[in-house]
Formats: sequence, C-alpha cells, structure tokens
Amino acid sequence: MCAHTPSHSSSHPFSLTGRVALVTGGAQGLGIAIAKGLIDAGATVLVAARNAQRVEQAVATLGEGARPLVLDITDETAVAKAFDSIDSQYGRLDILVNNAGARNRQTMAELDTGDLRAMMETNLVAPYNLCRHAAIRMRRGSYGRIINVSSIAGQVARGDDVLYPATKGALDALTRSLSADLGRDGLTVNAIAPGFFATEPNQPMVGDAGVKDWLQRRTSLGRWGQPDEIAGAAVFLASPAASYVTGHVLAVDGGYLAHF
Ligand SMILES: NC(=O)c1ccc[n+]([C@@H]2O[C@H](COP(=O)([O-])OP(=O)(O)OC[C@H]3O[C@@H](n4cnc5c(N)ncnc54)[C@H](OP(=O)(O)O)[C@@H]3O)[C@@H](O)[C@H]2O)c1
Repeated sequence: MCAHTPSHSSSHPFSLTGRVALVTGGAQGLGIAIAKGLIDAGATVLVAARNAQRVEQAVATLGEGARPLVLDITDETAVAKAFDSIDSQYGRLDILVNNAGARNRQTMAELDTGDLRAMMETNLVAPYNLCRHAAIRMRRGSYGRIINVSSIAGQVARGDDVLYPATKGALDALTRSLSADLGRDGLTVNAIAPGFFATEPNQPMVGDAGVKDWLQRRTSLGRWGQPDEIAGAAVFLASPAASYVTGHVLAVDGGYLAHF
C-alpha cells in the first residue's frame, strides 16, 4: 500500500477493532459511556461492577460487543479468577479502564483513618492490582493501554471533601510511575481527570440552580458535562492514535482547571 492510499477502517488510527477491553464500574455513569465509546470504535468490552442486575442491564443496553463481568475490584481472589477467565475466553487483554471509584464527601472531623483505608482500597489499591494482572496479559500481546479515571480533585481540593482528592492525587502519581515502569514493554498508562459530570451520584446537585450558576461562572464552557462527553478521551487514549502519549493526566472538565 502506498503512503497516500486511504486507510481502511481496521487501520484507522482510532480503530479498536479486534481489541479486548475491561472497564471497571462500566455498568453506569461515566463507565457505561466509556464502554459505549470503546465498543463503537470496534472493541469487545467486559463491563465490570458488583451489582449483577445492573451489569446485565448495561450489557443489554450496550448490545453486541459488551460482555458481563460481575466483580468487586477490591476482592483480590475474585479479580485473579476474573483474569483467568479472560485468559481462557479471549486469550488477551488490550485495554484496561480503571473507572470504578468511591467517594465520601465529608470533613476531616468526620472521617478517620479507617475511612481513608477503605477509600484507598477502591481508588488506589484495586486499580494497582488490576494494572498488575492486565500488564501480564498486555506484555504477552503486542498492545497495551491502561487508563485510570481520576478526577480534577487529584489536582485541586475542597474543605468538605477531604479524602477523595488525596486518593485521586495518588492515582495520578501511580499513573506516572506505572507509565515509567511499563513503558519499557511498550505499554502506555494515562489518566483522565473528569470535571463535573451529570451522573447518578451528582443528581442532587444537577438540579440545583445555585450549582448550575456556579458552574456557569467557574468553567470555561459554563455547564455540566454529559456522560457521553468522556468517551472521546478514552477512545483516543486506548487507540493507536495515542501511541506516544503516556504518563499524562487528561482533563475533561469543560475548562475547570484552566479557568481562573
Ligand atoms: N461524575 C463525575 O462528575 C466525576 C468527576 C470526577 C471523577 N469521577 C470519577 O469517575 C468514575 C466514575 O464516576 P461516576 O460518576 O460514573 O460513578 P457512579 O455512577 O457511581 O458509577 C460507579 C461505578 O463503579 C462501580 N463500582 C463501585 N465500586 C466498585 C467495586 N468495588 N467493584 C466494582 N465496581 C465498583 C459501580 O457499580 P456497583 O455499585 O454495582 O459495583 C458503578 O458501576 C469514578 O472513579 C469517579 O471518582 C466522576
């Protein structure tokens, strides 16, 4: 093929045809939007979450390309079994999206070290464990993309939400350290830092006129993000188009972090 021949779909730089992906927390919110984006780009996506009914519903909604995986990411025995089953069913894993996350919006007076340990389990320890399992499979194949869903809270903080920013800041740092470690094997590790998205946990705020007014002033685009607006960043980072991007935290925040 000469250099000017238009590429067919499977060699398109954003194509994920033939790729196998695992999206944690893929049954709702940002996770299901990311799963849809990856499927639309051609991937087969394992949709992982704890609630079996929600997982089945999500897979039915996503249609062809989606596969159910009922999994608590903090259960290391269950995670090891899930990866064994990925080996036997697919023989590969190309893309891992560590999207599942926990939040407990409270002050230091209300949150003790046990609360910190619990949040770290979901937001840092479990993603690290999944990265370890995924990297073994990715090294065996010729392709590996890890995407950690962090938050703008990894970079900026609020007084009434003391632990979540600490866990997401740690996830950003883990993204960089793993990118350095796994880069030698040709694997990339990046993060997405969402801003304010109109997902289920934020529903009480979405209808609040005061929050709407604040977002209008505080973000460049002046509004909430819609869940499907996260998908493009995930598809890009998962795709061949991002082959030289690693250790990066990509803000998808309507300009929140850039806005003074
Ligand atoms: N929405 C936002 O504005 C926003 C902003 C910044 C960052 N983020 C980050 O984006 C990610 C997704 O947020 P979201 O708003 O879409 O959240 P969400 O609607 O609450 O969805 C979270 C998903 O994670 C799953 N999950 C939670 N703990 C799990 C565990 N231990 N094992 C397996 N699955 C688990 C949940 O399903 P089960 O309960 O069935 O397990 C659910 O499917 C999170 O990491 C969050 O911190 C969100």
